[in-house]
Amino acid sequence: MKKKNHVLVTGGAGYIGAHTVIELLNAGYEVTAIDSLERSEIRIVEGVKSITGKEFGFHKVDCLDESAMEQVFATHRFDSVIHFAAYKSVNESVEKPLLYYKNNLGSLMVLLDAMKRYQVRDLIFSSSCTVYGQPDQIPVDESAPFKKAESPYGASKQLCERILEDVATEGIRVVSLRYFNPIGAHPSGLIGELPIGVPNNLVPYVTQTAAGVRQQLTVFGNDYNTTDGSCLRDFIHVCDVASAHVNAIDFLQEQKSAKLFEAFNLGTGVGVSVLELVKKFIEVTGVNLNYKIGPRRPGDVEKVYADPKKVMNGLKWKAKYDLGQSLQHAWQWEKKIRGLV
Ligand code: NAD
Ligand code: WQD
Repeated sequence: MKKKNHVLVTGGAGYIGAHTVIELLNAGYEVTAIDSLERSEIRIVEGVKSITGKEFGFHKVDCLDESAMEQVFATHRFDSVIHFAAYKSVNESVEKPLLYYKNNLGSLMVLLDAMKRYQVRDLIFSSSCTVYGQPDQIPVDESAPFKKAESPYGASKQLCERILEDVATEGIRVVSLRYFNPIGAHPSGLIGELPIGVPNNLVPYVTQTAAGVRQQLTVFGNDYNTTDGSCLRDFIHVCDVASAHVNAIDFLQEQKSAKLFEAFNLGTGVGVSVLELVKKFIEVTGVNLNYKIGPRRPGDVEKVYADPKKVMNGLKWKAKYDLGQSLQHAWQWEKKIRGLV
């Protein structure tokens, strides 16, 4: 049997990182994960081990720490890297822009430097649909221009992509995956998202309201130019996001070229409104969700969903889960962490 790649996963204890480690282990890859654990917990790593029944290396490392990163690269021989480690809150980035630029750009640069020195050439980067802002055409494809970012977080992803395009000329081959709205949790109910404080994102707010942690969900605006007036998004199951990373690693391995930068939208191609999601949650869980309509949230784009043709053809990837399953899994995880099951 062909020796499988050894993959370094930064941010491997995080929401998407941990689900990706599962996919990699199940596909037979050797995995080493690093995470500062600043925004996650070691129990997620334990959860990955019990779901897969497989061992993998885990090190508590901050990607900004050059000597710790040097140690990681000096003691392993990696074939590919998946870089999840970053801060991801739009609101927090507005309050603390420097923190966001320092961590999101800094961690990437320390990583790229180590990859160059140790001649690790294949990198998958976590980008975001936020790079497009409100696109002129929907569904949005990868050729859409970047609009001025609404937040330092969005700007950090645009800047990282620019850095990666430039660094690709030095022999680092990059796939940038622009995630739309990842939701849900592992079907086992053993791992999922651990939002810090009051969630900004819709689905954790929905599940926390259903669990009684929050009193009421506010739907931010019902006067948008959409079918029911609420915003439209492309919600994608986190396991579908995760599985695309395995395809991306295989894609890079098959490439002959020494330099490459390729961006792919990672969405389902289905636009779902906030109110449709709320109704679907009530339908699939049977929970009566307390919600009201409130004013628009500043900075929200009206509608955005992916044209997924490039990822479907180029990475031979397809979403497996639908919205109902994604919401059921999110609810199962919420009940588990609240001790309701
Ligand atoms: P997450 O916060 O759950 O995971 C990120 C992990 O990285 C955390 O465990 C955190 O402790 C770790 N981390 C942060 N900075 C670090 C550093 N300097 N060194 C080491 N570890 C560090 O977030 P997530 O939802 O899993 O997101 C993963 C990536 O995907 C991020 O780059 C994020 O910007 C991007 N992304 C997320 C979404 C989303 O909605 N979840 C959408 C688009 C893009
Ligand atoms: C979705 C919709 C809200 C909460 C963000 C980032 C993006 C990406 C994904 C990282 C919007 C509405 C929300 C609530 C609501 N992350 N909503 N009540 O804003 O599409 O994208 O996460 O890269 O970069 O910007 O996701 O989940 O915050 O909001 O009505 O309590 O739900 O207004 O229309 P968003 P979200």
